[in-house]
Amino acid sequence: MDAEETIAVIGAGLMGHGIAYLFAAAGHTVRVYDPAPSALASLPDRLDVIADLLGHEADVPARVSGHETLAAAVDATAYVFEAAPEVLELKRSIFAELERHAPRSAILASNTSAIPISRIAAGASAPSRIVGTHFWNPPHLVPLVEVVQTDNDNLPAVDKTIALLKAAGRHPVHVKKDIPGFIGNRLQHALKREAIALVAAGACDAETIDDVVKHGFGQRLAVLGPMEQSDLVGLDLTKNIHDTLMPDLDRTDHTHPLLERLVSQGHLGMKSGKGLREWTPEQAEAVRRRLRDFLYKQSPP
Ligand SMILES: NC(=O)c1ccc[n+]([C@@H]2O[C@H](COP(=O)([O-])OP(=O)(O)OC[C@H]3O[C@@H](n4cnc5c(N)ncnc54)[C@H](O)[C@@H]3O)[C@@H](O)[C@H]2O)c1
Repeated sequence: MDAEETIAVIGAGLMGHGIAYLFAAAGHTVRVYDPAPSALASLPDRLDVIADLLGHEADVPARVSGHETLAAAVDATAYVFEAAPEVLELKRSIFAELERHAPRSAILASNTSAIPISRIAAGASAPSRIVGTHFWNPPHLVPLVEVVQTDNDNLPAVDKTIALLKAAGRHPVHVKKDIPGFIGNRLQHALKREAIALVAAGACDAETIDDVVKHGFGQRLAVLGPMEQSDLVGLDLTKNIHDTLMPDLDRTDHTHPLLERLVSQGHLGMKSGKGLREWTPEQAEAVRRRLRDFLYKQSPP
């Protein structure tokens, strides 16, 4: 893969700046578009923070430039990664603009967390070059990227994107069905569905949920996936547990009322001081620092 290929990132927010950084670290020239002047103005400082964390020289963030128009950012690019807000209509309008301004040969990727890619590509004149690339936060530290296939037509674009990501030191996986939430968020939110239901049912408090995960099976998750773990303990044991447990697990088929209520009361989590748990600014900052330090230690050099 040619490290000199130019890459555009649409949206300079939490995800966009990290995606831009990781491609710059792989040697690419990266152009970033964001309509918010404040996002473009703060971009260099936010890239410098990553460079400091990773011990990179200034030439890495210097490969990233901010642009006030989408057309300027995507000119002569090989790949475009969209990381704008999670709103279907907005993403559709961005992809319509990308079709107008990006080179015909460019692969267009969306970093949507959960929206099926075919919904974003609906109405596109060349949907076969549109793929999903679901990075994880922070994208410069977490190696996984889910690359989403919509149908057989976009398979060549999926293969090229996987090659690009591997060359950039990421760990891409191929998601073969264009389903809401792809793989990672389906797994993550299946766990959250049960966690929220347990708290709502009074089985434990939210802190206990976190303790059970962090001090229990979470300790091994980074080195032992659930399929490996099932095979390790034996599928006979796994089946016996499922025979007892499956009928009892939560099967609410909509957002849980406890979550609805907290959001409607303005309890949004760390940013409002209360969510499922209560947070002082210092406690919230300590969690962020702990996470960043841990992920940094895990990340490849
Ligand atoms: N935050 C996460 O943990 C996470 C993880 C994986 C995927 N995602 C997905 O990545 C995408 C971006 O999320 P984020 O957390 O970086 O959001 P964010 O709010 O931090 O950043 C979004 C950026 O997009 C910009 N923007 C608004 N309208 C735009 C437009 N028309 N064109 C280009 N940019 C525009 C905003 O100014 C902002 O800077 C979403 O689809 C989100 O679901 C987020």
